[in-house]
Parts: sequence; C-alpha cells; structure tokens
Amino acid sequence: MLLGVNVDHVATVREARNGTEPDPLLAAELAIRGGADGITVHLREDRRHIQDSDLKIIRRKISVELNLEMAATKEMINIALRVKPDMVTLVPEKRAELTTEGGLDLIKSKEKIKRAINAIQDKGIPVSLFINPSFTDIEMSKKLGAQMVEIHTGLYANAKGNKQTRELKRVKDAVKRGIDIGLKVNAGHGLNFTNIKKIAAIDGIRGFYIGHSIIANSIYTGIEKAVREMKRLIREGERR
Ligand code: PXP
Repeated sequence: MLLGVNVDHVATVREARNGTEPDPLLAAELAIRGGADGITVHLREDRRHIQDSDLKIIRRKISVELNLEMAATKEMINIALRVKPDMVTLVPEKRAELTTEGGLDLIKSKEKIKRAINAIQDKGIPVSLFINPSFTDIEMSKKLGAQMVEIHTGLYANAKGNKQTRELKRVKDAVKRGIDIGLKVNAGHGLNFTNIKKIAAIDGIRGFYIGHSIIANSIYTGIEKAVREMKRLIREGERR
C-alpha cells in the first residue's frame, strides 16, 4: 500500500508569516527520503496555504507521484492541464471550512464533476473522486468515468468504540465494492498513528493520503533537535 504525504500544512505555517519557511518543497523532499510514495498538494481556490508557485516547483523537482487535490472548477482544470500532476483528486471545497469536510456530492455536482473527469482524463491524467464510504457514491464514481476513488475516512477516524467498528466496516465494504467494479480505491482524511493499522488491514486499498498527523508528529520529533541547534548558535555568538 502506498503513502501519499500531504504538505499543505507546511504551507499553512509559512503563510502565517507570509514568508519563505517552512518550505513545502523541502518538506516533500524529506518526506520522500522517509519513504513517501507520493506527495499531495491541495491548491485551494482561496490559496490559503499552497500557492501556484509551490505546485509548479514541486511538480518540477519531485519524481514520486504528485497528487493534485482541487475543486472541479474551470480555473483548477486549466491549472491541472498545464501543470500535469500524476493524478488529480477532486474534492468539495467550501470557503469557511477548516479542512475538507466530507466527500463530494455526486448528485448535486454531477455535471461539473463529469466535465472535469473528461477534460483531465482525456489528457492521460487519472482522476480520483473523494467520496463518502457509500455504495451509491462508489457506483456513481464508476458511472461518471473516474479511474479512482479516495474513501473519506474522517468519520472512522473521529469515532470511538462500537461506532468506530461500524465506520470501519462501512469503509471496508465500500473498498470491496469499488474494487469489484474495477475502481482503484484509496483512503484518507483523519488517519493518524493510532488509527492507521486497522484501515491498513483492509485488503486491496491502493494507498493512503495523510497530512495533518504526519506534520503534527514531525513537530514532536524535530523540536528537540531544532532547539539544540539554536542554543548552539547562541553559545557560538556569545563567545565572539
Ligand atoms: N485526502 C483528502 C481528499 C483531503 O482533502 C485531505 C485533507 O487535505 C487529506 C486526505 C488528508 O487529511 P489529513 O490532513 O486529515 O491527514
């Protein structure tokens, strides 16, 4: 199973200062060194984290699979066709949301999604639809012509006890149905160091797309080293 690492959160920290660090490209390169099979960036319509220039340079510099997450708008379709990521994941986008809140509404946005799938896949870029773990959405994704889906694991991730067991089963059933009808099936959202194992035990999932928990954990694993280095520089300065 593959791991795609989402570096949006690195850009979120950078944008908090309107500066140049931390750099999502460097984070992507380090993630690849750690074994990431792919890198994901979500170019949002409001450009709140990843910028067009990030997408361009990450496309140029990395050789693992680049997954561009985007809304199914004309602007984004044009960017995807220009930048040519290795795959596109269509996601719903609401301006006020903190993160992607649910799967696509394949009924309401049917025509828009179909248009995006056709335009992008015609150029040889596979499209994945970010959907809730439901048979209807799985079957609809196939009907719309998408080659892949990403099952939203947010409800599983947030649930506890029996509810989590039920949500896990929904994901498992959706994965099986997707594979049975010929889709490549991925999973993502809310996956972390505690809940990944049960999801990874599901047969047939192609890959996982994970952002927040990896970036959050990187702070814990990196802060001690960063503080030590800063203290060392302070001491060096003092000696002059
Ligand atoms: N997959 C999709 C489609 C997403 O929108 C996101 C969030 O950007 C993720 C995966 C990663 O979710 P998380 O940051 O919770 O790991």
